[in-house]
Order: sequence, then structure tokens, then C-alpha cells
Amino acid sequence: MRIAVVGTGYVGLVTGSCFADMGNIVTCVDVDQKKIRDLKKGIVPLFEPGLEEIIKRNRNRRLFFTTDLSKAVQSSDLIFIAVNTPAGKNGEVDINNVKAVALGIAKSINRHKIIINKSTVPIGMGDIVTQILIKRGPKDLSFDVVSNPEFLREGSAVADLLRPERVVIGATNRSAAQKVAEIYKPLRCPILITDLKSAEMIKYASNAFLATKISFINEIANLCDKVGADILQVTKGMSYDSRIGSQFFNSGLGFGGSCFPKDVAALVAIGKTSGYPFRILPEVLRINQFQRTLFVEKVRQIVGPLRGKTLAVWGLSFKPNTDDLREAPSLSILPALMARGAKLRAYDPVSMGKAKALLKKVKFCKDPYETVQGAEAVLVLTDWNEFKQVDFQKLRSILKQPILIDGRNMYDPREMAEKGFAYHGMGRGETSNF
Ligand code: UDX
Ligand code: UDX
Repeated sequence: MRIAVVGTGYVGLVTGSCFADMGNIVTCVDVDQKKIRDLKKGIVPLFEPGLEEIIKRNRNRRLFFTTDLSKAVQSSDLIFIAVNTPAGKNGEVDINNVKAVALGIAKSINRHKIIINKSTVPIGMGDIVTQILIKRGPKDLSFDVVSNPEFLREGSAVADLLRPERVVIGATNRSAAQKVAEIYKPLRCPILITDLKSAEMIKYASNAFLATKISFINEIANLCDKVGADILQVTKGMSYDSRIGSQFFNSGLGFGGSCFPKDVAALVAIGKTSGYPFRILPEVLRINQFQRTLFVEKVRQIVGPLRGKTLAVWGLSFKPNTDDLREAPSLSILPALMARGAKLRAYDPVSMGKAKALLKKVKFCKDPYETVQGAEAVLVLTDWNEFKQVDFQKLRSILKQPILIDGRNMYDPREMAEKGFAYHGMGRGETSNF
């Protein structure tokens, strides 16, 4: 099919490239001239495993890039809106980007089109897009508006798109939904066709539930720290119950990224304006912020007064396999440590380029070992695989004190003790208090 995807960010670029790889003719549109110039040269502006090869394989054959929205609209049958929907100051969703694109489509439309919201948008956004098209489009205009929310995780977005557990399509008429479903047929996965509002709600409710699961297990971990239980044993014991499962049960510094914090805050705002103020979701956010504060307090208790002390930080991105720093715990933890007078050395496999602009006065190092030179302790903020295989003996010989404070519970307390480290996790029980 002939598809336009507007917005070449984490969602739009992955979506457009994969649709092209599946045999469709895709034009990706963006207002960012530099991004489009780079993409035309095959330079990919973000780090996603597998994306570069897909773009190289399809560029100038089935995958094209432009800043010209009109041309892309007129040459396509389906138009996906995948621009960012940032959070406003008190959590409500800023939908101006989506409205701007809907307006641009209304002005360019030349025959029947299906307009699909891929971005995470508030419940009822489908109706707003419809109104814009009716009011600002040509009088004899015929179109359909569809909701097709994304469930892509950064760092595995290509895999998540090509092997989805479900595709959700919301529409006002079944034929438009079927047309969008055609794109996903080759993936042979469950496709739910429903109404617009339910599709929009499925996205928010899914993210809010996952965030709630993380804050719940973080509270249990915090209690484990008090009573001496090991949270990894607790979650293992709980996960045998298929109603609970083992996924999204990793305790630690909590959730970051461009989705969970924003989408949970958005659902809180939607609840307030729709007459049902949530009680549980504001607490989910408060617990999540508290994890960062708790970690800084833990560092101070273990290392003692921080003034003038050097600390090593491993991991800055909000999770492994991405260069994305949006809402990363590092962005609140490092400034808090420096405010207490600590001197910080940091290393991250891919996000230091972006981090340099956000974390002033931090010494960025080229590998995990250089980072720990002269440090009183090493703090793990992102559970990159690279940190699992380090040479702990070499590490011990460089660190001033063999202290490791693990914000992502990625190590085994007993193994760390055998290696001669004073290991501290988040709720890892008595064994960690060596
Ligand atoms: C995605 C989803 O769209 C969003 O709903 C979800 O909450 C987070 O993930 P994302 O792709 O991460 O957003 O946004 P971003 O990486 O910021 O990329 C958005 C792109 O849209 C940018 O390249 C921006 O230049 C472009 N854009 C924005 C347009 O092309 N037109 C606009 O009017 C606004
Ligand atoms: C999430 C959703 O998973 C995805 O379906 C949606 O489309 C977009 O938002 P993403 O934010 O990219 O994806 O990453 P995810 O892997 O979900 O992790 C989100 C945050 O939660 C990260 O900061 C991660 O460190 C944290 N997390 C995740 C935990 O703290 N514990 C866990 O068990 C899992």
C-alpha cells in the first residue's frame, strides 16, 4: 500500500521503515530539515537495534524521506500521524503537534484518505482530528480517522513492531479498520478491531498498568530493605502464579523514558477533566520519584558525607539498549549527588553524547574501568549487559573502596560478597549488608 508516516522520531521512523520492509511504499515526513537531510543520506538519527539495516535495505526503493507534507499526503492512501505528544506543565497531553499535522493533511487532501493516529493521544483525539478535517478540508472531502496506538519499547522497537503480541485498531467504520489491518496481516498476530475511544484507552490503560506494576514491586522492595527479605527471591516466588507473571517485576530506580511518566500523568489529567480523578495513579508517580530520592539517601548512608568524594556512575540512559535520556533516573540522581558535594565520573555505552549537554561538571569516561579511578564507590543506574561481564578483580584494584551500589538489582549479593565487594542493592535482604 502507499503510506505516509508523519514524524520520524522513535515511533514514526521505526513504523515507516518496518512498513516499507513489509513491501509497502512509504514516505516519512518531518519538519526537522536536518533529520530528513540525514535520513536521505542514510544517517539514522537515533539508536534502535536493527533499524539501520532496515533503512539501508529499503531507502530509495520503498522508503522515502521528505519535509513536504502535502506531496506525501497526495501520493498516499493511508497517513499515519506519529509526532510527539509531550506532557504539558500539569501533566495534560500537548496535542498541538497532532492538530498541526491534521490541519496540514486537511489542506493537502485530494481524494479519499485514511488518517491513522499512531501517537499516544488523549481519549477523544480521533473526534478532534475528524472535526479539523471537516472544518478545514475541502467541502466534498471523504476520509476516515482510525486509532492504531503503538506498543513499541525503546531498544526493542523493531522487534516489537515485527512481532507484536497484538495490534489494536479503533475506527468509526469497519472497512477503514480492515484496510489498516491489511498492513499487519503478514505479521500473523491477534488484531483487535474496536471503536476509536476504546483503542485510545487501551494504550493509556496498558502503560498505566505496567507503570503501576513497577511502582508496586518497588514498594515491596523498599519493605524488603527494612525486614531483610530479598526482592528477587520474592518476585521469583510470586511469578509462578500465572495471574502475576514475571515480566515488569524488576525493582530498582523505577521507570523513565518518554512514555510511562508522561502517559501516567496524562491519564491522571484526563481523569481530572473527565470527572473521575484517579487515586492510585498519582501515588504510582510519587513512588516512582521517591525511588530516586531513596537511592541518593542510600549512597549517603553507605559512603558517608559526600563532600569532596569521587563517585563512579555506570549507566545514564533510562534503560539499556537505547541512547534516550528522557526522564532517566540519572538526570535527577547525578545533580542531587553533586549538590551534596560529590565529584562524579560517569560512563554509558551509547548516551554520553546526549548526556554531555544535560549533565554539566560530570567527568565522562571511555569505559567502566576508567570511570572507577579514585572512586569511593560505583553506582549502577542502568542495567547494560556490558556491566554484567566486568573483571571484578581489576575493578577492586582500581576502586578506593570495593563498594558497589546497584540501582537496578543486576548482581547477586552472594557472588559480590565472594568477590570481596560491599554490595548494596534495592531490597536485596541481609546478604547485601556485608
Ligand atoms: C512517540 C509517540 O509519537 C508519542 O505519542 C509517545 O508518547 C512517545 O513516542 P516520539 O517518536 O518518541 O513520540 O517523538 P520524537 O522522538 O520527539 O519524534 C517526533 C518527531 O515528530 C520529531 O522528529 C519532530 O520533528 C516531528 N514533528 C513534530 C513533525 O514532523 N511535525 C510536527 O508538527 C511535530
Ligand atoms: C514502554 C512500554 O513498554 C511500551 O509498550 C510503550 O509502547 C512505550 O512505553 P519503553 O518506555 O520504551 O516502553 O520501555 P520499557 O521497557 O517499558 O521500560 C520503561 C521504564 O520502566 C524504563 O525506565 C525501565 O527501566 C523501567 N522498568 C521496566 C522497570 O523499572 N522495571 C521493569 O520491570 C521494567
